[in-house]
Amino acid sequence: TFTFHTSEELARHVAQIVAAVIRERNSYGQKAVLGLPTGSTPTGVYRELIRMHQEEGLDFSNVITFNLDEYYGICPTQMQSYHRTMYETLFNHVNVPAENIHIPDGNVPHNEIDNYCREYERKIEEAGGIDLMLLGIGGNGHIGFNEPFSIRNSRTRLCTLDPVTRKSAASDFFQEENVPTSAITMGIATIMDARRILLLALGEGKSTVIRETVEATPSDRIPASFLQDHPDAQVLIDEAAASKL
Ligand code: GLP
Repeated sequence: TFTFHTSEELARHVAQIVAAVIRERNSYGQKAVLGLPTGSTPTGVYRELIRMHQEEGLDFSNVITFNLDEYYGICPTQMQSYHRTMYETLFNHVNVPAENIHIPDGNVPHNEIDNYCREYERKIEEAGGIDLMLLGIGGNGHIGFNEPFSIRNSRTRLCTLDPVTRKSAASDFFQEENVPTSAITMGIATIMDARRILLLALGEGKSTVIRETVEATPSDRIPASFLQDHPDAQVLIDEAAASKL
């Protein structure tokens, strides 16, 4: 666990790690494969990466991205879609080639979801696996949309959202009843396959779940606690999120 004084310091540190992975891969003429989250937590990191692109020429042309999740039954143009959020907070401002960007499609017809999810996994594998996975965490310990009781070897799939998650998303959708009831998410096993993982959390509201994530025995009760078993996972937080450790 690494604690930072401010969210800006944390964002700069994480952006430096992302940039180092991109540059290292570039120096071998290889692609850098990133797993990316949405939510409010990573926005500072994305802002810093945009700055590095604009001011320092950080080159994203060899970057491949896979987003963690997307609401199901949402149009990519809709304000709350993770698709739109990712373009607005990062992809519109850096030079990741469009064909290298992967975000689960929240509009796949129901009878095609299984194939679609298998194909998402196949694309990750084909890209050589994820080099660096950034994660946020839900107040109930979810990573991606792997809600409590998601199994350790779960893969990309459609899953039902926990009432806690829907409640915390209510303000984005103006009312809780407008929040989708399900989402497509990478599974726990998909996440655990990444070579390196950084879980980010900011604010007092995450302090309890951060304590459980790092101190509880790993179990599906707090899906993020499974990261304890990953050989290269770190928890990066601000002082408020660290206040119960
Ligand atoms: C959502 C996302 C997660 C994200 C979490 C925390 O439910 N599916 O991937 O990590 O919320 O969001 P925030 O960073 O806004 O606290």
